[in-house]
Amino acid sequence: MKIAVVGPGAMGSLFAAFLSKSKEEVWLLDKSRENAAGLNSSGICVTGSSGSWRAKPKVTANIQDIGKADLLIICVKSFNTKQAVEQTKPLLQQNTKIMTLQNGAGNIEIISELAGEDRVIGGITNEGATLISPGQLHHAGRGETLIGTLDGKLPVEIRSIREIFNKIGLQTKLSRDIKGLIWSKLIINAGINALTAVTRLPNGRIIEFEGTRRILRETVTEAVRIAKRKRVKLIYDDPLAKVEAVCEGTAGNTSSMLQDILHKKRTEIDFINGVIVRLGQELGIAVPTNKLLVDLVKTIESSYPLRLEP
Ligand code: PAF
Repeated sequence: MKIAVVGPGAMGSLFAAFLSKSKEEVWLLDKSRENAAGLNSSGICVTGSSGSWRAKPKVTANIQDIGKADLLIICVKSFNTKQAVEQTKPLLQQNTKIMTLQNGAGNIEIISELAGEDRVIGGITNEGATLISPGQLHHAGRGETLIGTLDGKLPVEIRSIREIFNKIGLQTKLSRDIKGLIWSKLIINAGINALTAVTRLPNGRIIEFEGTRRILRETVTEAVRIAKRKRVKLIYDDPLAKVEAVCEGTAGNTSSMLQDILHKKRTEIDFINGVIVRLGQELGIAVPTNKLLVDLVKTIESSYPLRLEP
């Protein structure tokens, strides 16, 4: 199988590094020529929960080098999904599948619209990673990856992908309800990401203070109200307990949104709490805490050049 991982961020580098252990032909597509050349010569150095090891996937900034692929794994930030899928169209052949394990909601819809529903493999991953610098990856935590298709069928292609992932040590299961998966992860990200980004606290700390714990609970309760109205079946029974358990389980992690804020980058707020706010408006459900978090994160994003340094 020829696999192209699109986007050399933390998750893209992690998946490309793991997949390069397989027998498959694996490419990492990086839009920067300079980065691609650097990664090609020194590879990706992984440290953390999978040990210390080096991987050497083929990296390119030139889409022609890859040719037609069987699987694309989109690992860009959600606000770049549209552009990434448009740019990688030359890689598609009749049966090429496009996988998204990105945070937030809306990616499946973007990929379906641009490339067709049949191609989409959606899901979530509980692997955690932080990119220290290009090619220097900290594997922050291990966790299951769950994947499925939009129609709930589990054809041979998705079974082969599960097999490849499991063989290289990415523990992967199939699901017949990717909407449920994506919403289950969305609620976790809605509860943790913006709050850690605003307070600049690691995941575990936000449940240690009375104020942030209360805000987390309100954010999650609002998001769950929306999920219920949308008749989404979550993969856990008690969402509040689950989000707090993720805070504990990833206590030392710098959430992906806080990493973006610390690097003065655009965040995925529109695809996380922003989704809850939009749906709240549409469905007539009040979501004031999510709205407040969206406003605060957007304010931080727009104020990067104005911020006082310590
Ligand atoms: O976006 C993230 O950082 C992660 O999805 C999570 C689960 C919040 C852990 O840090």
